[in-house]
Amino acid sequence: MMAAKREKIDVTLIPGDGIGPEITRATISVLDALGAPFVWDEKQAGLAAVADGHDPLPEETLASIRRTGLALKGPLATPQGGGYRSATVRLREAFKLYANVRPARTMIPGRYDNVNIILVRENLEGLYVGREHYIEVGGDPHAVGVAVGINTKEGAFRVLRHTFDLAVRLGRKRVTVVHKANILKILTGVFREAALELAPEYEGRLKIDERIVDACAMELVLHPERYDVIVTTNLFGDILSDLIAGLVGGLGLVPGANIGRDTAIFEAVHGTAPDIAGKGIANPTALLLAAGMMLEHVGEQDKADQLRSAILSAYRNGQCTGDLGGQLSTDDFARSVIANL
Ligand code: NAI
Repeated sequence: MMAAKREKIDVTLIPGDGIGPEITRATISVLDALGAPFVWDEKQAGLAAVADGHDPLPEETLASIRRTGLALKGPLATPQGGGYRSATVRLREAFKLYANVRPARTMIPGRYDNVNIILVRENLEGLYVGREHYIEVGGDPHAVGVAVGINTKEGAFRVLRHTFDLAVRLGRKRVTVVHKANILKILTGVFREAALELAPEYEGRLKIDERIVDACAMELVLHPERYDVIVTTNLFGDILSDLIAGLVGGLGLVPGANIGRDTAIFEAVHGTAPDIAGKGIANPTALLLAAGMMLEHVGEQDKADQLRSAILSAYRNGQCTGDLGGQLSTDDFARSVIANL
């Protein structure tokens, strides 16, 4: 889904929890310097909302996203106890954000020099549908844990089509469908069957192949350059996208776009990083790159390219935050990106 270019674009801004407000502030300063056309409607979610006496996903926040159809979101913590479900997962469900697009590219010299993988994770189904229960045995109420996973053909087609179309649009050559249909024959077999049914439509435009998730994990570590685009179910996508983040330098570098039919929410792949929150040392790159994906999404390709190359220049000049072995604070890194714009 690509919107036509507009003068001013309303976007819901959710700074989030932990390092969220720090990296959000840094990201906004870079977007302002870039002249991005966004007008922010700041709203709360997560612990920040609970601290103010609201639900972790307040109605006001949902109403704002319904109006704008676009959000830039910091990470959200899930309150412990009280039966809360993750506000991030609830947001994906509320707006039916079925495709989670996570591109990872080598930016700093490291173990791997030429990783350039887009992973698309099915975002609404599988083992993340939240159907879990305990079975009591011998007086232990938690003796057995049960989770039900649900994958539908319709859900699989939706995310597979999005991935295949995205790959064609970006001039990518190969899409690998990742599953575990040798063991979870029905749950992930449905996803594989949908891919096999859809693949002929893309013949001559894409090479579509498949991998079992465990073999894929090993091959990603040994030969990540062999992968181009990966599409997979919810749980496998969650795990493999963090693995891929590790290949390019860590969670501080990988953005994600949650895409639905008429709403899109852009965020970093990482969480609230409680261990470094409030210290001003978090790496804002993942959220900056997420903002870059949002610029592309609204048709501002030039500004997206400008932003990405300014970030790359900062890294080429050896400027980086502590997670990558550098000395810069969050704000200093943002300033060096601005200087490169
Ligand atoms: P995490 O991603 O917050 O942290 C894992 C490790 O990576 C930590 O050592 C952290 O310091 C480091 N790290 C993460 N982002 C970084 C950055 N930008 N710069 C430098 N270092 C960074 O994962 P964790 O600890 O498992 O989760 C913490 C909380 O975040 C939990 O409450 C979890 O539910 C939530 N979470 C929220 C997500 C979201 O809102 N999209 C996604 C993942 C987790």
